[in-house]
Amino acid sequence: MRMVDLIEKKRDGEALSREEIRFIIDGYVQGGIPDYQMSAWAMAVYFRGMTLEETAELTLMMAQSGDQLDLSILGRRFVDKHSTGGVGDKTTLLLGPMVAACGVPVAKMSGRGLGHTGGTIDKLSSVPGFKVELTQEEFLAQVKKIGLSVIAQTGNLVPADKKLYALRDVTATVSSIPLIASSVMSKKIAAGAQGIVLDVKYGSGAFMKTVEEARVLARTMVDIGNKLGRQTIAVLSNMSQPLGRAVGNSLEILEVADALQGKGPDDLMEVSLELGAWMLVAGEVVADVETGKERLSQSLESGAAWYRFLAFLTEQGGDAQAVAERRLRVSPWNLPILAQDTGYVQPYDAHKIGILAMTLGAGRVTKESSIDLGAGVVLAKKAGEWVEAGEPILQLYSSDKNMLAEGLQLAQNLVSVGSEAPELPPLIEEVIQ
Ligand code: URA
Repeated sequence: MRMVDLIEKKRDGEALSREEIRFIIDGYVQGGIPDYQMSAWAMAVYFRGMTLEETAELTLMMAQSGDQLDLSILGRRFVDKHSTGGVGDKTTLLLGPMVAACGVPVAKMSGRGLGHTGGTIDKLSSVPGFKVELTQEEFLAQVKKIGLSVIAQTGNLVPADKKLYALRDVTATVSSIPLIASSVMSKKIAAGAQGIVLDVKYGSGAFMKTVEEARVLARTMVDIGNKLGRQTIAVLSNMSQPLGRAVGNSLEILEVADALQGKGPDDLMEVSLELGAWMLVAGEVVADVETGKERLSQSLESGAAWYRFLAFLTEQGGDAQAVAERRLRVSPWNLPILAQDTGYVQPYDAHKIGILAMTLGAGRVTKESSIDLGAGVVLAKKAGEWVEAGEPILQLYSSDKNMLAEGLQLAQNLVSVGSEAPELPPLIEEVIQ
């Protein structure tokens, strides 16, 4: 087999066989296929697409390109969750303890943030002492012990995706549905998931800008999962507004702590309960999503989810007491953005709020940038809330006066107050399974 023939085949819109896809993935990971040929192939896929059979084969070959977790030690069906990323998206940290408290173990490998979207691992890093890296044995032992662990992606999990994603990033081939779907699903499959719950976000703060694009991506991932024998459910959720009030790492941990003690913002609770309930359904502890939501709500009311969160932080070396007492470090320079008029706060642009948080130091411009874990934005008023002239709408936090000044300029253009209450789209658009 020759790579040039396979590029040509895809360029001409033909479907590749299992053996041909295996040849490409193995060859690329082992170094026999150079970047320039792989780029040409990725561009051919970008324009010609892939059939469901091809995409499922690609997913499986990528999942098998490195280590695969064996979660049989848990002695039960294992469900994983994935979000396509957004602004203020802290659902993993909220639903993890709730789902674990309801009897479905959560063993999650998460990423760091890049650009305007945050990453769960950065948020957890704002808890003093918290270890985001555990050995595979430690990770599994902790899940066995307390039902919950969240760590940074480790070892040699899906090396094909690492290499291909880096290439796509610099060859304008990221936004291809079969390449995104196989990238996401291969990581879930290599991580040992038998059930997969996907939060596919759409809107200005998301990767997919329109609901139509998000629907196609969700459908593709659900079909791949089901074809590969993994029960897969996708929730399409709106990301035109930041989720919750806090955007920034330690600020978000504090919001999660409030939410686990029954004081969470409505939008964050709605999305977390929906996703968590589907995890309970996929984990076979409840028969339907409504019962799942009731069980999760009980875990909040009884305090079981909150204590599970504290146990999880402690088990991974984190200072749970500091979280419970709200002693996390928040950046020292802070400024409010005050309402100029009295009225209803008009919708924010989630993407711009993400950029604002990044400008204040909370996000990475490149993979190598360092971040200020205490920086970010708090939406004192969410879209649709009433504000009096002179009251704070946003609160900005930064450790750097210049960044704060830059953020201040951006923030002035981000807020508007009107006499009419804005109509906000539903948070959960649909569930695809
Ligand atoms: N997230 C992923 O994990 N992979 C992609 O290709 C895009 C977003």
